[in-house]
Amino acid sequence: MRPINPASGKSRQHAIAGRLACAAASVLIASVAAVHAGEAKPFRLCADPTNLPFSSDSPSQPGFYVEIGQALAQALGQPITYDWYKSYFGKRTVRVTLLGKQCDAMIGLPRSEDFMGPAVIFSNSFAKEGYALVAAKGQAIGGVDDLRGKRVAVQYASTPQNLLATRDDIQKVTVLSPEEAMQALDQGRADVAFIWGPVAGWLNMTAYNDRYQIRLTEGEGLSWDAAIGFAKGSTALRDRVDQILPALQKTIADLAVKYGLPAGQPVRFGTAQAVPAGTTTGAGPGAGGAQVASVVATETKGDATAPNEEIAGAGKEIFNGTCAHCHGPDAIQSERKIDLRLLRHRYGDDMRETFWKTVHEGRPAKGMPSWKEVFTDNQFDSIYSFLLTVQAESND
Ligand code: HEC
Repeated sequence: MRPINPASGKSRQHAIAGRLACAAASVLIASVAAVHAGEAKPFRLCADPTNLPFSSDSPSQPGFYVEIGQALAQALGQPITYDWYKSYFGKRTVRVTLLGKQCDAMIGLPRSEDFMGPAVIFSNSFAKEGYALVAAKGQAIGGVDDLRGKRVAVQYASTPQNLLATRDDIQKVTVLSPEEAMQALDQGRADVAFIWGPVAGWLNMTAYNDRYQIRLTEGEGLSWDAAIGFAKGSTALRDRVDQILPALQKTIADLAVKYGLPAGQPVRFGTAQAVPAGTTTGAGPGAGGAQVASVVATETKGDATAPNEEIAGAGKEIFNGTCAHCHGPDAIQSERKIDLRLLRHRYGDDMRETFWKTVHEGRPAKGMPSWKEVFTDNQFDSIYSFLLTVQAESND
C-alpha cells in the first residue's frame, strides 16, 4: 500500500514484523538512535505511518505534521525520532503512545479541553482544519445557498450530511469516503463535494491535477484548531514549543501549500442549519468516524479490553485480505449495517458469541458467507482480537 524504503532500518523492521508490535519496535529503534546521536536527547514524535497528507514514514514524503515536527526538533536543537502508530485507534492511540510515554509530542490534535483533557495539554493552534466545499473552478460556492439545486456529495454519517439533511432544495449524493466523493465529481454524478478539506486538497493535488477549487467551511462540527499535544507533565516542553511556533509560521504555511491543504477565507455555516445535538454522529473533534483521517478517529472501549497486539495484528491481516472488501479496510465502514466496529454496541456481552456463530455459519440470505471451511478457530480468534481493537464507544 505504501512504499517501503529499503534504506531505512525502521521500514525494514515494519516489513519484517508485518506491522506487528510496531510500537515496541519503534521504541527500541528510538533508543538506539538516541545512543548514536550521542549527547542530545531526541525529540520523539508520535505519528501515523500511513496518513498522508499528514504523516507517513516515507522519508521522501513525510507529510505536513511530520515536517512540522522536523522543523520543531531543529529549532529545539534535538534530533528527531519517531514512534509510528496507526491513528485510527483515535484516543486509544493517544493513550498508548503519548500518554504511554512512547513519545514527547503528537501533532494535529484538536485544541479542545474535551479532547482528553486534562491528561493531554496543547500548544497554541498552528492551523485550522475542517470540511470543505469542492467544485469545478469557476463555479460560485460562497455559501450554503449556492448549493441550492445542486447535487452535493456528502460522506455517510459526517457533519455535512447532517447539516444538509433538512435541505430539500439540495440533492445529496451519499458516498462512503472522500475518495468516492471526488470520483463522483469527476464522473459528473455530483456538482459539489462537501468533504474533509485536507483530504480533498491532497486528492485534488495528487490525483486530479488541481482541477477543482476548494473552499474551507467553518461552524459547529465543521472545523477546529489543530495543535500539538503533550502529556500533562510536559508543560516545560509545551511552553518552549509555544515560544518557537511563531517563528515557524512561514514554514508551516509553505508546508500547507506543499501538501495541498485548502487555504483562504472559510465559508461560515450558521447554527440555523445545524441539526440538534445527538443526531450528529460525526460532530466535532474526537467524536467522528472514518471521515476524520487525522488522529481524531474512533475510540475503543478502553484498555482493559486491549488484546494482545501480535494476535490482533495477525487477525487484521486476515481481515484485510478476506473480509475488507465487504466490511471495509481495517473495518472502517460507514454503512452501519455492516460496520463491525459496532459489534459491541450492538451485542454487548453476546458480542463474542454472535461473532462466532456468524463467521462459522454465515448469513447466506443476507450476503454474509460462511467461513468455517476457510479458517481455523485460532484464525477466528485472531480476527476477533483485531475487531476488539476497533470497537466504537457504546454510545457512539
Ligand atoms: C461478500 C461480502 C462479505 C464478506 C467477504 C464478509 N462479510 Fe461479514 N457480513 C456481510 C454482510 C452483508 C453482513 C450483514 C448480514 C446481516 O445484515 O444480517 C455481514 C455480517 C457480519 C457479521 C455480523 C455483524 C452484525 O452486526 O450482525 C460479522 C461478525 C461478520 N460479518 C464478520 C465477517 C468476517 C470476520 C469476515 C471475513 C472472514 C466477513 N464477515 C466477510 C458480508 C460479508
